[in-house]
Amino acid sequence: MMSVIHPTAKMLVEISKSQDIEAGDGTTSVVVMAGALLKAAQELLQKGIHAATISEGFSVALEKAKEVIEGMGIPVDLNDRETLIHNCVTCLSSKVVAANSDVLAPMAVDSVLKIIEKETDTNVDLNNIRVAMKLGGTVDDSELIDGLVFVNNKVSHFAGGPTRVENAKIGVIQFTLSAPKTDLENNVVVSDYTAMDRILKEERKYIVGLVKAIVKTGCNVLLIQKSILRDAVNELALHFLAKKNIMVIKDVDRADIDFTCKTIGATPVPHIDQFTTEKLGTAGLIEETSAGGSEQKIIRITQCPAQNKRISILVRGSNQLVLEEAERSLHDALCVVRALVKQRKLVPGGACVEMEVSQKLQAHSREIFGTDSYCMRAFGESLELIPYTLAENAGLDPITFVTQLRNRHI
Ligand SMILES: Nc1ncnc2c1ncn2[C@@H]1O[C@H](COP(=O)(O)OP(=O)(O)OP(=O)(O)O)[C@@H](O)[C@H]1O
Ligand SMILES: [Mg+2]
Repeated sequence: MMSVIHPTAKMLVEISKSQDIEAGDGTTSVVVMAGALLKAAQELLQKGIHAATISEGFSVALEKAKEVIEGMGIPVDLNDRETLIHNCVTCLSSKVVAANSDVLAPMAVDSVLKIIEKETDTNVDLNNIRVAMKLGGTVDDSELIDGLVFVNNKVSHFAGGPTRVENAKIGVIQFTLSAPKTDLENNVVVSDYTAMDRILKEERKYIVGLVKAIVKTGCNVLLIQKSILRDAVNELALHFLAKKNIMVIKDVDRADIDFTCKTIGATPVPHIDQFTTEKLGTAGLIEETSAGGSEQKIIRITQCPAQNKRISILVRGSNQLVLEEAERSLHDALCVVRALVKQRKLVPGGACVEMEVSQKLQAHSREIFGTDSYCMRAFGESLELIPYTLAENAGLDPITFVTQLRNRHI
């Protein structure tokens, strides 16, 4: 991470960060635009206009700009999947993983459409889309999973427990399936075999009791939250659970519990006494498959209750860099769809908007008087830096290009 000290530079970094949070895409453009506006402000200052006046003048210009953009907007229908995908492809086209946009763009669109009410929703909670990354394969192997995916957990294969369950009734437990231990400071000294036997018997009885209570609820899949204290489940418990044909997925991260429960419609259970049938979640199918490498496994929990409106995306990539870039780009694409749900309007890209706004502001500046007119014109002119920069980056002659474009917008 670059360390930035200058206050203005810091501000530019912050602008880019907020753009990333608010819109996802356009982080480069805002920095270019802010730079142009700063330069314009500096020139206005040199003309002797007070900073507060410039700031006010820019606000007036901003309102006018928003008005122009509003007028340019073309309505989008969220049922028009093709247009939505096309937008995501545009957003992805300037990324490293642009070549994979035919896979990533439809995934971004479909996942958002799955978790919203198209008619009524005016925002998208992207927290309801869980993106999981798994090294291996290529970005094209990424997939949308209508439910949950676990990439760091394994199904217990101990004692031949199931690795595929249909019509799953899933219990999510936050207690451990092993005999309680003594306090840290205490030791139990076992002096003879009968005492040893008694302890083992007690442990067995305790575990059998737990498993019986679990079986009684109709549970056939058990997700066990990772315990920081001790092994969340011991071999004896795994053995009994396997005998009862209950699938066990252990070491589920605490951070994953909330999303998991909401997706399958389960309530996490902190103590065996509270383990009842109503707490169970459901899924049509839970399956563990190999993820390429010999030891690599992926668990998919699919056909979850649709009303829960949660979905997962599994991103694959052949190396860590590509994987992380794919994840970041996918996030940008998701943000593009979110922006279209928030405001169902589209404007053309490729600096078209910037040029149009620039022209309209400059024209308007000739109709008003005083410092506002100066500021409006400066604001408008600075927007030309976007087409200028795009032309430059595309290897065109920026002056020729911008003047041509300007003429076409009049
Ligand atoms: N395929 C495209 N068609 C039309 N305009 C595009 C296309 N790709 C990018 N643009 C436009 O080019 C400009 C720069 O886009 P680019 O993706 O390089 O940076 P950004 O979106 O500002 O930042 P970032 O994507 O890094 O967050 C934007 O004005 C964008 O609208
Ligand atoms: Mg972009």
